[in-house]
Amino acid sequence: MTQHSVAVIVGSLRKGSFSRMAARALIERAPASLACRFAEIGELALYNQDLDEGEPPASWRTFRDQVRGADAVLFVTPEYNRSVPGVLKNAIDVGSRPYGQSVWAKKPAAVISVTPSALGAFGANHALRQSFVFLDMPVMQQPEAYIAGAHKLFDDAGRLTVESTSEFFAAFMTGFAGWIGLVRGGAAQGQIA
Ligand code: FNR
Repeated sequence: MTQHSVAVIVGSLRKGSFSRMAARALIERAPASLACRFAEIGELALYNQDLDEGEPPASWRTFRDQVRGADAVLFVTPEYNRSVPGVLKNAIDVGSRPYGQSVWAKKPAAVISVTPSALGAFGANHALRQSFVFLDMPVMQQPEAYIAGAHKLFDDAGRLTVESTSEFFAAFMTGFAGWIGLVRGGAAQGQIA
């Protein structure tokens, strides 16, 4: 079995983040063909092109190496003001430079947006997809994942308690494994979800 590594990026730094709870639940339900690992973005210095002229900050180098070394990227993000939280946009900008050395290019990606509100953070989900066009990231189109009512999905320990969401998360990760295989050319036809 071919195993693919997945960098999991969470767009919230909050301790009690529903997005991180969702990310953990997704990782737990991923098929064995995926090896998922968080790539943390909370310590990244704000992007400033001047810092790329010399030796870039250690936090940038670590993050860039992590993403460069992964076969694929899973984004799990809340929505801030109908768009992507600044911390996540900063991580995307850091990974995209220096010009010509982007760590994102050609990496298969998937997006799950998470919110307590009813709209499923559609705005953040699609703002992210807009960046993927320029970043040249082939993003999984289906299933789409706009997770609404996130505050009702987890118990006090942060564990997913809703069966239908659990099944959807498992299907999403199986679909993502198929998408990664398709993009990277490593999967047999029958494995494509
Ligand atoms: C929000 N929130 C929010 N929710 C939403 O569905 N659409 C939005 O545009 C916004 N905007 C927004 C801006 C800012 C600055 C904050 C702090 C929050 C609410 C947000 O969904 C909620 O705080 C989530 O719990 C954040 O995700 P995590 O931290 O739980 O993963």
